[in-house]
Amino acid sequence: MTYWFRFVSLTLLNLYNLVFNIYPVTTQISRPHIIFIIADDLGWNDVGFHGSNQIPTPNIDALAYSGLILNNYYVTAICTPSRSALMTGKYPIHNGMQHTVLYGAEPRGLPLNEKLLPQYLQELGYENHIVGKWHLGSYRKEYLPMFRGFKSHLGSWTGHHDYNDHTAVESPGWGLDMRRNMSVAYDLHGKYSTDVFTQESVKIIKNHNTTKPLFLYLAHTAVHSGNPYNPLPAPDDVVKRFSYINNNYNRQKFAAILTKLDESVGAVTKALSDKGILSNCLIVFTTDNGGPAEGFNLNAASNFPLRGVKNTLWEGGVRGAALFWSPLIKKPNRVAKQRMHIADWLPTLIDAAGGDSSQIYNIDGITQWRALSEDETSNRTEILHNIDDIYGNAAVTSGSWKLLKGTTYNGTWDKWFGPSGRTGYNYSIPLVIQSPAGKALQLINRAPTVDQIQTMRPQATIECPTTEPSNTTCNLLKELCLFNIDDDPCERHNKAKSFPIIVEYLTLLLNAYNKTAIPPGNLPLDPRGDPKYWNYVWTNFGDYILNPGTVIIA
Ligand SMILES: *[C@@H]1O[C@H](CO)[C@@H](O)[C@H](O)[C@H]1NC(C)=O
Ligand SMILES: *[C@@H]1O[C@H](CO)[C@@H](O)[C@H](O)[C@H]1NC(C)=O
Ligand SMILES: *[C@@H]1O[C@H](CO)[C@@H](O)[C@H](O)[C@H]1NC(C)=O
Repeated sequence: MTYWFRFVSLTLLNLYNLVFNIYPVTTQISRPHIIFIIADDLGWNDVGFHGSNQIPTPNIDALAYSGLILNNYYVTAICTPSRSALMTGKYPIHNGMQHTVLYGAEPRGLPLNEKLLPQYLQELGYENHIVGKWHLGSYRKEYLPMFRGFKSHLGSWTGHHDYNDHTAVESPGWGLDMRRNMSVAYDLHGKYSTDVFTQESVKIIKNHNTTKPLFLYLAHTAVHSGNPYNPLPAPDDVVKRFSYINNNYNRQKFAAILTKLDESVGAVTKALSDKGILSNCLIVFTTDNGGPAEGFNLNAASNFPLRGVKNTLWEGGVRGAALFWSPLIKKPNRVAKQRMHIADWLPTLIDAAGGDSSQIYNIDGITQWRALSEDETSNRTEILHNIDDIYGNAAVTSGSWKLLKGTTYNGTWDKWFGPSGRTGYNYSIPLVIQSPAGKALQLINRAPTVDQIQTMRPQATIECPTTEPSNTTCNLLKELCLFNIDDDPCERHNKAKSFPIIVEYLTLLLNAYNKTAIPPGNLPLDPRGDPKYWNYVWTNFGDYILNPGTVIIA
């Protein structure tokens, strides 16, 4: 009796599930594919969706308007610390990554006791691939992506390389930096890096067996400068399109590098569409840090009207250009005001993928999944921008208030740098809608409407008076600076004298964070890492030094 009752009810339940497909018959959960695209050194004002009319970025913009423009989103001021925060969900002070970048001959890497984003995702069943720049350690193989959760890697190990010859000039030498897994990719010589990374990404998407969710980490080297002998390498025919950017050949070349990056975003989105998986994807597009303005790092980015540049803790260094796109976002087509930090991606993506980030302890990242998807208040009230005792600078934001202490470059980059990008071409909405990304979105009824674009773009644009600020400006070489970031995102009006109690509170907050810091892990460069000893290739030289008999892979 009982047996028959249970048999019948179970059968009915199975039938019901089969018919309504609400309960997968297998235990396999269909997790979204995650495509994480990180641009290198892209400035706040370089993308079209922040109001610039100088360089069209129609593919990036299409995804932005169709998803969320993250307008209150922070990265760290420079490459390695940002990538470290992304991969670990921690502030760089919590793993010794807070001071400057990693160098190819530096015998260190992101500490091996850290569990990285791909390793968390692997536990949820993801297949992980990295295409592009790593920059989290390479002197021994254990530090490389293939040993830290990624199944394949086509790209570079160090901080930058030339877009055509793929070599990197960096103290103490010069050498090739382009790999397929552990092998040196000599055959790619002469092929433009951005195209190489795009083609590899498209191939990974095309060949992916969709019974498993895919995590594709596409870390472009664009728009980072190349080597001093040719800092901004871009195809001449693309550069020519930007002759309207008057008297600024560097910015014209920058525009061409950015155009290739934007085309890559379009090609990847199209590949997801062609594969039929776009409607089950999460796509992130973010910069790693603020832009290097004209002359900085031989580059020509723009954070206008934000103050400062890459490797400064002003908004221009840490407020990142970013978007988050997915049909899983319940309230898309808006400019998200939620405050977010790059360390938040780890728990956010885990939750968006159906995991449970509340089971992860000892990280600084705060899940933003519900806040972003349903437009609720973010749980993040504070952002530690950094504490760097070697440079002697630090900054923290709590609520609306940001305190800065000390600076870099002796204050040289503490001002506002153009171009404003308010003139150039006429921003074209049809160009956005007709871009490859726009067309792919149309196929799944997700193309942004003209109305949405016209509403969102002004909301995402930060406007500040164009006149030079007066004595309300702050000099970090002499004083602490306090700004109300919500009212004064351009950091023009130092409020330190008017609100001494807030200065005191934020100073205590910085001190409290500082007590939790571990010392920077930076090490002197090892002369044995010089590529000249390794057939002019940047290598995992530590493996050969430690095990002298090892056959050199270079
Ligand atoms: C890299 O290694 C993975 C296996 O981990 C393999 O599937 C892939 O084909 C390799 N790529 C190359 C170019 O050898
Ligand atoms: C995809 O993976 C599933 C499960 O491992 C396997 O059964 C199937 O044959 C694979 N499909 C292809 C095209 O390789
Ligand atoms: C904020 O945190 C609280 C406490 O952990 C949680 O209950 C709430 O859902 C969170 N809010 C959002 C939007 O994630």
